[in-house]
Amino acid sequence: MIKTHTCGELTVKDVSKEVSLCGWVAARRDHGEIIFMDIRDKFGITQIVFDPEKNKKIHETAHELRNEYCIKVTGKVVSRPEGTINSNIVTGEIEVEVAKVEILSECETLPFEIKDNIAATEEVRLKYRYLDLRRPVMQKKLRMKHKAYKFITNFLDKEGFLFVETPVLTRSTPEGARDYLVPSRIQQGEFYALPQSPQIFKQLLMVSGLERYFQIVKCFRDEDLRADRQPEFTQLDMEMSFVEEEDVLEICERLFKGICSEVINKDVTVPFLKMDYEDAMNRYGTDKPDTRFDVFLHNFTTEIKEKCDFKVFKNVVESGGRVMALAAPGYGSISRKEIDDLTAFAGEHGAKGLAYFKVEENELVSPIVKFFTADELKLFRERTGAKPGDMIFMVADSKETACGALGALRLKIGRDKGLIDKERFDFLWVVNFPLFKFNKDDQRWVSEHHPFTSFREEDLKFLENGELSKVISKSYDLVLNGSEIGSGSIRIHKRDIQQKIFEVLGLSKEECEQKFGFLLEAFRYSPPPHGGVAFGLDRLITLFTKDASIREVIPFPKTQKGMCLLSGAPSQVSENQLKELGIRVKRKFDI
Ligand code: AMO
Ligand code: AMP
Repeated sequence: MIKTHTCGELTVKDVSKEVSLCGWVAARRDHGEIIFMDIRDKFGITQIVFDPEKNKKIHETAHELRNEYCIKVTGKVVSRPEGTINSNIVTGEIEVEVAKVEILSECETLPFEIKDNIAATEEVRLKYRYLDLRRPVMQKKLRMKHKAYKFITNFLDKEGFLFVETPVLTRSTPEGARDYLVPSRIQQGEFYALPQSPQIFKQLLMVSGLERYFQIVKCFRDEDLRADRQPEFTQLDMEMSFVEEEDVLEICERLFKGICSEVINKDVTVPFLKMDYEDAMNRYGTDKPDTRFDVFLHNFTTEIKEKCDFKVFKNVVESGGRVMALAAPGYGSISRKEIDDLTAFAGEHGAKGLAYFKVEENELVSPIVKFFTADELKLFRERTGAKPGDMIFMVADSKETACGALGALRLKIGRDKGLIDKERFDFLWVVNFPLFKFNKDDQRWVSEHHPFTSFREEDLKFLENGELSKVISKSYDLVLNGSEIGSGSIRIHKRDIQQKIFEVLGLSKEECEQKFGFLLEAFRYSPPPHGGVAFGLDRLITLFTKDASIREVIPFPKTQKGMCLLSGAPSQVSENQLKELGIRVKRKFDI
């Protein structure tokens, strides 16, 4: 080692020791003749002093040192004079009197300052990510991730889980996104797929008798990127044999209680709340409710169906849709323009309109109030719990759109009105999802989660008579503050049932054989009942750091367009590489 200490550890106990520190010049304060500098490394900051009275030559070299030079200093630890103590940092009571300084490397003009709050755009930060990661605030996030991974590994080890690696060059696994493909050189014209998750392999490990598996693993999904999605992200993937739903939930709750206590010093209550998928949709308009504030959706479909003079609502209900409402607290006095903006917002979420009723002491005021009876208006008011000064908003549409648009409006109201308590960490299991959902674009049934998900025994009859919407799965999603951080299920372990599911999903025998033959084959050899779950660790850490984007907690993330601005990936490859792979790229210029 070319240093004796880190920049984050010297205290009064070290006074009069000769020490050497290495780090970067973080700040400089010239006090007449005396020059103070902060030297920073991963561990902290130490003040160093260049005093001409004590060492004239060294004082001259101090003038050569620029911001962010990488330096080594040697000198004596001394107590800081009274009144200059900084109690915010560990090293705040001492400073090092520099006797010798060595410039390890110089630094050119930086694209942005190395400090916590900077004005640089995300583009510049990502291009110079290595400098961005020099900032203490970013290093803190990496440390937080490290701490979480360490806790998880220790916890699961104690619970009898084995860390097992699964392949990265593999076959496609169905998690609903596009695959990233890797061409094979040896088998020309054939491709590996990068795993969207280790789903099938972890199930195979259960057939192997490993009983409790986990992995902290990169997954790859080629999907449209958003603030909470990256094309490569890290899952905590787990699988257990001989368990029921409750067993998986219980162990995960203890795990998350531990992570929260260890990583963010938060005490969370277990067991976590549990909510049926149907209730989540009806009350919050989403399968990932943010339960930190009490604005709820209400369903008026039955009453509208019985009798209603408002054609818009009546028509929607008659064609199988829903009428949903919510009371927006304090929104009674918003302007016409604000109403139009909210209507446009609901429109972005598919709603064809947004009906509104201003709640006054003794009446509801709305351009459409004349279509409703006094009893109907009373019901709107009572069921939504609206108070004078509030506004009742209503959407009539298909179940998905009515719930989805009002659910989005609910969140907007919560955020805009500051109703969300940011200190809260609300964990919630959403359970009893339907096993299938109908994909309107492709006109076929698809898995709500993935095709390996098991379902309630009593629903087998619906599978057999084709009432697919009634089959309820044995799956569970973990939601934290309105973000889906995990998802899992008890799996099908019977070959004939697994085959039946593939059939219902429209896979031919050949497709089944080709895609999942190896799993079906494995299920010939006494697979144990099993279940598991996977958590999105980048998402979890983003919630811990309260950052707006997942990119903030990933050391080298991709942009929304899937690019790495630092390395320039993805990039073109040489003709020779393509030739070896037997690939010809149809570029714009050869069309
Ligand atoms: P699922 O597809 O729900 O389940 O993924 C599990 C969790 O991974 C996180 N996640 C993502 N995080 C960042 N970027 C992405 N693009 C992304 N996609 C997913 C989410 C999600 O809840 N094999 C199953 C799990 C199982 O059944 O055991 C699976 O992968 O937090
Ligand atoms: P219209 O009869 O289309 O002029 O609509 C009258 C009022 O009903 C307007 O305030 C619309 O925003 C509202 N409205 C129209 N369609 C819907 C709908 N599908 N759901 C809720 N409100 C609607």
